[in-house]
Amino acid sequence: MAESAHRVILTSEQIQERIQEIAAQIEADYPEGPIYLVSILKGAFIFVADLARALRRPSIRIEFMAISSYGTAKTSSGQVKVTRDLDVNIEGHNVLIVEDIIDSGVTLSYLKRLLEARKPKSLEIVTLLDKPERRLQRVDVKYVGFQIPDEFVVGYGLDFAEDYRNLSDIRVLTP
Ligand code: PRP
Repeated sequence: MAESAHRVILTSEQIQERIQEIAAQIEADYPEGPIYLVSILKGAFIFVADLARALRRPSIRIEFMAISSYGTAKTSSGQVKVTRDLDVNIEGHNVLIVEDIIDSGVTLSYLKRLLEARKPKSLEIVTLLDKPERRLQRVDVKYVGFQIPDEFVVGYGLDFAEDYRNLSDIRVLTP
């Protein structure tokens, strides 16, 4: 598939500008203390790197989790399993779950329940992309970069069969 066949829906500049805005909101909402960015592999790895650098305080703790979904997992009855857990205790800390995209909401509603049980001081979600049309489970998401229509997107961490994650912009795959 030729590069030119893909339609850019968010340029690198648009993404970076929005990340600066989100970072400013986060700085205002959490005036002091460390913030734990809990990034969900793999898709969020580029977003968390840029978001972390847009936040100015030194006490930005960057942590990773990995999850896998089974069978018809991306449905309301989908099963989500943690394949790599945090190796820090988040009790009493301000925690932000960092995601690249929220689609059905299955992954994030599961993760939110899981991490809430560990008694963080606060727990919110920041996602770069949101496809509200696809939602099967309701999730409160505090920070959203962009709402996008229900189209298959790649780039900036998002893949198609593990390709395209390295693109700096976000594109819709066109046949
Ligand atoms: C994507 C994304 C979220 C999840 C969102 O991950 O990073 O974790 O899907 O979908 P949901 O709202 O329907 O649960 P994916 O399974 O593509 O894995 P990856 O990040 O490793 O590419």
